[in-house]
Amino acid sequence: MAMPPTIGVFDSGFGGLTVLRALAARLPQAQFAFLGDTARLPYGSKSRRTIARYAAESAQFLVREQGAEFLVIACNTASALALDAIQDAVPVPVLGVIEPGAEAARAASRTGDVLVIATDATVQSHAYAAACQARGLHGIEKACPLLVPLVEEGWTNHPVTAEVIRIYLEELNAEAAAKGLNADTLVLGCTHYPLLRPLIEKAVPAGMRVIDSAEAAAEAAVRLVNGRANGPTGTPAFPPALRCFATDSVDKFERLGSAFLGRPTGKVELVDLGG
Ligand code: DGL
Repeated sequence: MAMPPTIGVFDSGFGGLTVLRALAARLPQAQFAFLGDTARLPYGSKSRRTIARYAAESAQFLVREQGAEFLVIACNTASALALDAIQDAVPVPVLGVIEPGAEAARAASRTGDVLVIATDATVQSHAYAAACQARGLHGIEKACPLLVPLVEEGWTNHPVTAEVIRIYLEELNAEAAAKGLNADTLVLGCTHYPLLRPLIEKAVPAGMRVIDSAEAAAEAAVRLVNGRANGPTGTPAFPPALRCFATDSVDKFERLGSAFLGRPTGKVELVDLGG
């Protein structure tokens, strides 16, 4: 019997745990290595060059040192700005979250007008606008830079966070209306945002569909892994084997990460990827 595949998953912080959680639920036989590059977070306010370097180093750690056979970039910012750099840096299949997120928006939207909230860097790359356009959708993107720090602070159910979300979405809806668009779908274009989903659901107009790029990416990853894996992949073991690594703040990662993951992260190991 073949060994269960090892899947490497990384993000700048906790956000990627939303992808890991969705993946682990769908691939109970797999082994996971998760890296949160917490020392260098946020990626979303940095340049393409810096994001590409950080993301390539994170990918190489998971492949070279943890033996990952597949890589899921559980970060929209790295997917939008560094997918090519990551693919060049490692010899394994790499999946990003932008294309699955846009594909899920296409399946959900009836009007074809789609709102996207994301980090500054993702919005400036216009990766979602392009992925939407390629599917005949009209995507309007808005940067929401305050949301990642609020999640990293653990303020996922806090009145300040609710107010920040309300203001961002009001501005975005006003912009869409001014352009004569009839948006019916909102894409959470940052893997931190699903942790705010209950607050976001309360703030969107009635009937608007909310798309979680983490869920969409997990579906795509399952197809990739099952398509490549040869025959049975070991005995399903619940819960799937998991090792977590962070480049800083391992205690906080263990505490908040376990809540976000829905199970204990186990001991989070500190790694140094350089500056
Ligand atoms: N979770 C990352 C994303 O999906 C962004 C967090 C950050 O800015 O580092 O874009």
